[in-house]
Amino acid sequence: MTRHFLNLTDAGGDAIAAMIADAIDRKAARKGLPKGAADADAPLAGRTLAMIFEKNSTRTRVSFDMAIRQLGGSSLILEGATSQLGRGETVADTARVLSRMCDAIMIRTGDHAKIEEMARHASVPVINGLTDLSHPCQIVADLLTVVEHGLALPGSQWAWLGDGNNVLHSIVEAAGLLKFDVRIGVPQGYDPDPSFASAAQALGARITLTRDAPEAVAGADVVVTDTWVSMGQDHADEKLKAMMPYQVTVALMAGARADAKFLHCLPAHRGEEVVAEVIDGPQSLIWDEAENRIHAQKSVLLWAFGLLG
Ligand code: CP
Ligand code: NVA
Repeated sequence: MTRHFLNLTDAGGDAIAAMIADAIDRKAARKGLPKGAADADAPLAGRTLAMIFEKNSTRTRVSFDMAIRQLGGSSLILEGATSQLGRGETVADTARVLSRMCDAIMIRTGDHAKIEEMARHASVPVINGLTDLSHPCQIVADLLTVVEHGLALPGSQWAWLGDGNNVLHSIVEAAGLLKFDVRIGVPQGYDPDPSFASAAQALGARITLTRDAPEAVAGADVVVTDTWVSMGQDHADEKLKAMMPYQVTVALMAGARADAKFLHCLPAHRGEEVVAEVIDGPQSLIWDEAENRIHAQKSVLLWAFGLLG
C-alpha cells in the first residue's frame, strides 16, 4: 500500500510518536554537520521528491528540500502557475506522470479534494504541504518542539486562540491521536470544522470551544495561534475586529501555566494575532519550531517511504 500523508490519521498515533523519536535521534546524530550534508546512513539516496506549490511558502519549501537532501535524496519544484497544472492539465494525469518520474510528491494547494484526487491517482506517496483544510506536516514539527522542550504529550493542555483554521484542525487531530486536550478560543462565525473535534473526542481527547480567551488559556501548557487571515482569504476589517479579543497578549499568557510554551507556525503578524512581547519573549519556541520543520519532515518522508513506523 502506498503511504500517503494527507492528514495525521493516515499515519496514526504510534507512527507519529515514532516520527518524533526518530527526528530527535537524527537531529542529535547530525549535530555539527553543515546543513546541506547528508546523514551518515543517507536512507533516501537516489530518491527525488517533486514539490508542487499552488500557494506561497517559505518554510515548507525550504524544509522539505533540506529534509530530502539530508536524507541523501533531492527535490524539484513545480509552481502552479508555470506547470501544465496551471493550464488545466488534470490532477489525475499529473499524478500519473509524476509517479513515473519521481519517487514522492509533496503538494501545497487550496482545495483538500485536489490532494485526495492526487493520492487516488499517484502510485508514489503524496504528502500534504498545507491545504485549506489541514497542515499535518506543521503539527509534526510542533509536537516535536514541545516534546524536545520537556512536555509529556498525553494529558497536556493546549490552548488555541484566533481563527478556526487548517492549522487548528491538525492540532485537534493530533490531540485525538496522542491523547491531549485542546481548549479553543475563537469568535462566533470562525469556528473550526466540527468533524475534527468529534473524531478527537471519540478517541478520548477533551476538545472544548469557548468565546472567552482567558478561559481558553487558563492553566494551559501550550498556547498556539496563527494568522487571522489565511492564504486565499479576504483581509476583511470585520474579521480582524472579531479576532481582536483573541490576540495573544502578555496579560493573556499570564493566565497559562508559568512555564507555558508559545507556538506559532509563522508567518506572523506582530500586533494582530500576537504581540511582539510574547512572540519574541522567553516563552516563545518559534525558532525551534521553524527549524524543526526540517527534522519533522525527514520523519514524514521516512514514514512515507516505509522506513519508519
Ligand atoms: N508554517 C508554514 O507552513 O510556513 P510557509 O507558509 O512559509 O511554508
Ligand atoms: N493558516 C495559514 C498557515 C500558513 C502556514 C494559511 O493557511 O495561510
